[in-house]
Amino acid sequence: TSALPAQGTTLGFTGVPASLTDAVTVPSEYQHQVLYPWGSPTGIAGAMPPFAPDASNSAADQAVQAGMHHDGMHFFAMGPDRGLLVMNHEYTDDQLLHTDGTNPWTADKVRKSLHAMGVSVIEVERKPEGWRQVLPSRYARRIHGNTPMRIAGPAAGTPRMRTAANPAGDQVFGTFANCAMGVTPWGTYLTCEENFQAYFGGPKEAAVRATEAQRRYGTVPGSSWAEYWRLEERFDLTKHPNEPHRFGWVVEIDPFDPESTPVKRTALGRKHQESATCTLTKDGRVAIYMGDDSDFEYIYKFVSRDKVTPGTDAAARAANREVLDQGTLYVARFDTGGRGDWLELVHGRNALEAANGFANPADVVVHARMAGDLVGATRMDRPEWIAVHPQTGEVYVTLTGNTDRGKPGKPAVDPANPRANNRYGGILRWREDGGDAASTTFAWDHFVLAGDPRQPDAGARYPQPDDDVFGNPDGLHIDSGGLLWIQTDMAGPRMGKGAYAALGNNTMLCADPASGRIKRFLTGPSGCEITGCVLTPDRRTLFVNIQHPGEIRVDGMPNSAWPDGKLPGSARPRSATVVVQRRDGGIVGT
Ligand code: FEO
Ligand code: CA
Ligand code: CA
Ligand code: CA
Repeated sequence: TSALPAQGTTLGFTGVPASLTDAVTVPSEYQHQVLYPWGSPTGIAGAMPPFAPDASNSAADQAVQAGMHHDGMHFFAMGPDRGLLVMNHEYTDDQLLHTDGTNPWTADKVRKSLHAMGVSVIEVERKPEGWRQVLPSRYARRIHGNTPMRIAGPAAGTPRMRTAANPAGDQVFGTFANCAMGVTPWGTYLTCEENFQAYFGGPKEAAVRATEAQRRYGTVPGSSWAEYWRLEERFDLTKHPNEPHRFGWVVEIDPFDPESTPVKRTALGRKHQESATCTLTKDGRVAIYMGDDSDFEYIYKFVSRDKVTPGTDAAARAANREVLDQGTLYVARFDTGGRGDWLELVHGRNALEAANGFANPADVVVHARMAGDLVGATRMDRPEWIAVHPQTGEVYVTLTGNTDRGKPGKPAVDPANPRANNRYGGILRWREDGGDAASTTFAWDHFVLAGDPRQPDAGARYPQPDDDVFGNPDGLHIDSGGLLWIQTDMAGPRMGKGAYAALGNNTMLCADPASGRIKRFLTGPSGCEITGCVLTPDRRTLFVNIQHPGEIRVDGMPNSAWPDGKLPGSARPRSATVVVQRRDGGIVGT
């Protein structure tokens, strides 16, 4: 066994130029391979239907195959050359998912679409020729939009969670819109339900009756992205107004037990949940940082009441199974002078009481956004992923952008969100006072204000003059050596055009937080976003997700055929995991 790699960060790789080619590019001294594209068998024994390139796989097939739109991901090591890769499938491109698209929608297509979101657990192993999936694997599992799960924490069983199908308000079918993620100290996976509102709808005329809370969360009839509600009644907001209360949560999954029931942890608050990044407080409790990815939404922190039982084995996972159900939820206020406060979202405190619409603890977590309004939290430019530096404890968050900042009738700029029409986003960081994640005060600054500095009014500011430039950071990961990996999600129509022309396709960069050096490491195929990043414990393998290649249509055709075809139109583009290694087997990024 080799010694752990030395700490420190050199970015010794050959940086790659911005690219508009329909391919993954990595530094010349690296190689990459594609793993587990959409439709690949997950590896469940006796249920491994092959991918049908014409998208004719059934809804039942899709329930045991890779979902679409790979997103947040973690590698749970089971020895030096083996582990479980657990990943989110965020949403579906229904024109690609079904042979004849969505004209018309059918109940079967709704089922297939629900089965194409959620989470995959796959087993992978390192062979001399590279990493491969273990098929079948006793760990292989698909969790999707119809998987039964439990609701726990302060909202469980309360009237807001009760539906016709579940009068007890303690169980729900499925998780979807799974974007970023987290990993608990006891070795479970946290998946975050982001744009859940997109799947709830109803007759447009009913929009006039939408409540303030429904508007705030986007669950308004007539505004859905997918017309599930016409075919599956639970998605009709006018018939089942409580069903959307059962989404927008952090869901805990034990990847090592395929029989385990996923649990929605309502103590962490309901939002367009982007990340759930865990760290330990000085006294051994768990702190979880969370983003809420919508314009002008908040950054949250949960601190558990109870201490964590150390370890990641089955006994530790069992001992910690209720840690996420009791604790304090906070929301961040960023003040001038680089100071900040964590404001308690606790029923009965900070005016969170019946007179203001919060009759009980369930109201506070179900409507966490409105609780944040009441306590005066800072409205951010779309907080996405959060990463904690393993050595310094410093916390980094991507603010992916907000072009409504400063518009008439919208919040003005503030110290933490200093650019009007913030089209490029950036990365902000903070240090908890006393170096303790339980602290209620912190110091913050901007690590980078992203964008192309040559554009007039870009307002970009990079830590180093020779840093590679980028836009709309989203995915974020700090590896065990302290390297900061930045992934971008520029909207498809922007890529390669106008103010974004110099930035190329979406990309992944590697940064040294200490020196502020930022270098482009990987570029993605046309139309894709880069999201989800994890290294093996020996830092010799990097897993990265390529999401929605071909999202942009040119003459009705996806603008990518990655990874199966060379020319657009020659194959259905597929989201997939990319495995990146140095050709000499060395540590990635150094
Ligand atoms: Fe799914 Fe906010 O990215
Ligand atoms: Ca994201
Ligand atoms: Ca995004
Ligand atoms: Ca995207």
